[in-house]
Amino acid sequence: MIDQTLLPTEFREIDCWTVEGVWEAIKVLRVRGAPAIGVAAAYGVVVGLKDHRDDERSDFNAKLAEVVAYLASSRPTAVNLFWALDRMSSVALEHRSLSSAEVHESLFAEAKKIDAEDREMCTAIGQHGHHLLESGMGVLTHCNAGALATAGDGTALSVIFAAVAAGKSLRVYADETRPLLQGARLTAWELQQREIPVTVICDNMAAQVMKEGHIQAVVTGADRIAANGDAANKIGTYGVALLAKAHDIPFYVAAPSSTFDLSVAHGDHIPIEQRAREEISDGFGTQTVPAGVDVYNPAFDVTPASLISAIITEQGLISKPTTENVREHLKDCAVHGSSDHAR
Ligand code: MRU
Repeated sequence: MIDQTLLPTEFREIDCWTVEGVWEAIKVLRVRGAPAIGVAAAYGVVVGLKDHRDDERSDFNAKLAEVVAYLASSRPTAVNLFWALDRMSSVALEHRSLSSAEVHESLFAEAKKIDAEDREMCTAIGQHGHHLLESGMGVLTHCNAGALATAGDGTALSVIFAAVAAGKSLRVYADETRPLLQGARLTAWELQQREIPVTVICDNMAAQVMKEGHIQAVVTGADRIAANGDAANKIGTYGVALLAKAHDIPFYVAAPSSTFDLSVAHGDHIPIEQRAREEISDGFGTQTVPAGVDVYNPAFDVTPASLISAIITEQGLISKPTTENVREHLKDCAVHGSSDHAR
C-alpha cells in the first residue's frame, strides 16, 4: 500500500506481511478512507492466516475469529471495515467441509473480489454523478475521497474525474481538513497528478469562498450512512453542509452501497472515532497548544439527511434521502451489507 502519512512530500509503497502491520497501517492512517480500509482489512485477514493453512479446521476457524476481531478494533466509524470483515467471515462459514488451506485460498479470492468490486463501484459512482456537474463550476470537497481512499478512482473525486473526462472544465476547492490535512496533502496531490485545477483553502474559509461565488456544488465522501441517509464523514463535513445550505449550494455525498449501514436507523447511533490529542496539539511536529490544555478530537461528524441534496451510489442517485428512498434504492443491491455492524 501507499504510505499516505508521507504524502505529499514522499511517495513510498510499503508491504504489510503481518496482521499487526495491517492493523497499525489502518490505525495510523497509512491506509485510510472508508473503502480502502475495508479492502486493506480483507487482505489483512489473508495475511493473518497465512501461517495457519496446515491447522485443523477448528483451530483455523478460531484464528480467523481472532484476526477478524483484532482488525475490527483498528477504527470504529467506517462501516466498510466491518462490512468487509463480515464478508470474509462468511466465506469460512460457507465452506465448512474444505481444508484450512482451501479456505485460505477462498479468503484470498474473496479479498480480491472485494477489491475488484470497489474499483467497479468507484467507476459507476463517477458515471452517475458527473451529470450533476457542469463546465465552469467550482466544486468544494472535504477530506480525501479519491483514489487514495478506495481501491479505484475514489467516490467524490471519481465524480470530478468523470466530469473532467467528459470534457467539463472544473475548479476544485479542497478544504485542507484539520487536523490531519487529508485535503491539503492528499486531495490536492491527487488532483495535481491528474492536472485538474485545485485550490486549497483552510477549513474556516469555506463560508467566505462560497459567499464570493466560487462554489457551485459540494461533493464529499462518507464513512457510514445510516438507514435514513444521515452521513458520517470527516470532521467538518457537517459544517460545510450547513454553509452550503445557507448559500443555496447543492451538497452531494458520493459513496458505494458498502458504506450504508441499515442496522443504524439514524446518524446519532453512528460511533464517532476519538483520536489522540497530539494530532491537534502537536500536529506535524510543532506544538501549537499549551501543555496541559484540554483538546477534543472527534475524527468524524454526521451530516443530517435533510442537508444532503443527493447521495450518489454505484446504482444511481438517491435524491433528498429518506429512510424510504434509501431502502428502495438498495433493495436489489448485490453487495449491500445490512448485517449488524454496531461496534
Ligand atoms: O480519517 P480518514 O482519513 O480515514 O477519513 C476519510 C474520510 O472521511 C473520507 O471522506 C471517507 O472515508 C470517504 S473515502 C471515499
